[in-house]
Amino acid sequence: MSYNLLKGKKGIIFGALDENSIAWKTAERVHAEGGTFVLTNAPVAMRMGKINELAEKTGSEIIPADATLEEDLDNLINKSMEILGGKLDFVLHSIGMSVNVRKGRHYTDEKYDFTTKGWDISALSFHKVMQSIYKSDAMNEWGSIVALTYMASQRVFPDYNDMADNKAYLESVARSFGYFFGKEKKVRVNTISQSPTPTTAGTGVKGFDGFISYAEKMSPLGNATAQDCADYTVTLFSDLTRKVTMQNLFHDGGFSNTGVSQEVIEYFSK
Ligand code: NAI
Repeated sequence: MSYNLLKGKKGIIFGALDENSIAWKTAERVHAEGGTFVLTNAPVAMRMGKINELAEKTGSEIIPADATLEEDLDNLINKSMEILGGKLDFVLHSIGMSVNVRKGRHYTDEKYDFTTKGWDISALSFHKVMQSIYKSDAMNEWGSIVALTYMASQRVFPDYNDMADNKAYLESVARSFGYFFGKEKKVRVNTISQSPTPTTAGTGVKGFDGFISYAEKMSPLGNATAQDCADYTVTLFSDLTRKVTMQNLFHDGGFSNTGVSQEVIEYFSK
């Protein structure tokens, strides 16, 4: 069902790699709600070519940008305003990667140049995106910026590795930049703390299958899917949430406030 919640709104969507990506589902949903946008991803992700399908489907243009490079981001933001014919109303940062996770380095055996690369891509890139937008005054008043996070930023999930630290950093950037964006530009900044979701980034985490099944059993409403996340993001881009800012918003079927569920008790009572 579509409500035209984003009619006339313009934005940038980072991170649609394939049809499982949270950003991919969000782009489809934003399109259905009447929003227009530029799609972007790292040049290396473009080579997989999938994003062209999404661009065609949603009538969008693609501008490659490595989210760790300021010059790429400045170019992306200026070109997006040209293409879209004005300033932006929404931005989705849906980017994450840990080299330590990819290379199977344990949290107690990090290789620090991997760590640095991981936090640059997963957390500092959010600051870089916002700083570039802020300096070029590229957001309309009452615009909305959203990044995706995971609750390992606040509680230990051992296999989430250094991504836990990256997410803590990301959430802090959202709060701190949210203050200045709110004061100076009337723009809101939030993070959505999403359930485990079977995507390329998600399934890269060791033990993901156990992780997602456990979360499913612990969440009174069940895990939130990528599609559910797309729906929630649309509400945050809409005019119905104008005073929500600097928040880390749990979107997890109730997982974060559940101590234990009946299913888990029964499993251990066998
Ligand atoms: P995904 O693998 O589909 O998306 C990650 C994206 O980051 C890819 O499109 C990738 O190309 C992009 N990326 C990597 N390096 C980049 C760079 N240097 N510049 C620009 N883009 C770059 O996976 P998913 O799950 O859709 O991830 C989106 C966000 O959701 C990430 O922040 C992730 O940590 C977060 N998240 C994912 C959960 C999950 O279980 N899948 C749970 C909670 C949060």
